[in-house]
Amino acid sequence: MGRGVTLTGGLALRDVDPHDLPVFFTFQQDPSANFMAAFTAKDPGDRQAFDSHWERILSDPTVLMKTIVLEGRVVGSVGKFDMLDKPQVTYWVDREFWGRGIATVALAQFLAVYRARPVYASAAADNPGSIRVLEKSGFVRQGMEKSFANARGQEIDEVFFVLERAQAGEDPRNAQH
Ligand SMILES: CC(C)(COP(=O)(O)OP(=O)(O)OC[C@H]1O[C@@H](n2cnc3c(N)ncnc32)[C@H](O)[C@@H]1OP(=O)(O)O)[C@@H](O)C(=O)NCCC(=O)NCCS
Repeated sequence: MGRGVTLTGGLALRDVDPHDLPVFFTFQQDPSANFMAAFTAKDPGDRQAFDSHWERILSDPTVLMKTIVLEGRVVGSVGKFDMLDKPQVTYWVDREFWGRGIATVALAQFLAVYRARPVYASAAADNPGSIRVLEKSGFVRQGMEKSFANARGQEIDEVFFVLERAQAGEDPRNAQH
């Protein structure tokens, strides 16, 4: 994906720039966003841990992360990492911009470029916003397990999703593995 591709209504995905990281760090300071995401950093306020995490993922060839930009403003991130050799999508939107369809559009556009299928996702069972984004994007619920959630300090239900095949308009022959 090239830099600054216009998606829709001023929303764009581009490569993560080092200048985006302090902005992402501020997003993860929001207590309600952390509670919602649940499977978060142990200490969201630990800048050193945050920097090491991003240094690691940006140099990992199996990770593909994009910055979500709305009319020139960094409003979130979307991407994919591998867990047990399975690609998993992830996304985070600045709380100020929730409920405008940003995660849904950003994920759709990400999945139009990252075309390997199946692709997986998970969310806390009590994160209806994230679950709704996945369902709107064609992901299907696979199952549920108890997992430890740093933001809750305990095990909670985690729901697992899969997107099995290309959606309308996607060409599976272009799949990247
Ligand atoms: C989850 C998150 C990415 C959603 O971002 P967003 O840009 O607000 O998402 P969208 O606007 O595209 O879609 C949200 C959908 O969830 C619905 N929703 C949100 N909160 C809801 C709730 N409490 N109950 C039911 N539905 C809810 C919205 O109505 C919308 O569905 P609709 O289009 O059918 O109305 C955002 O809240 C976030 O970043 N949260 C913190 C990090 C996180 O949880 N990341 C995901 C980890 S799995």
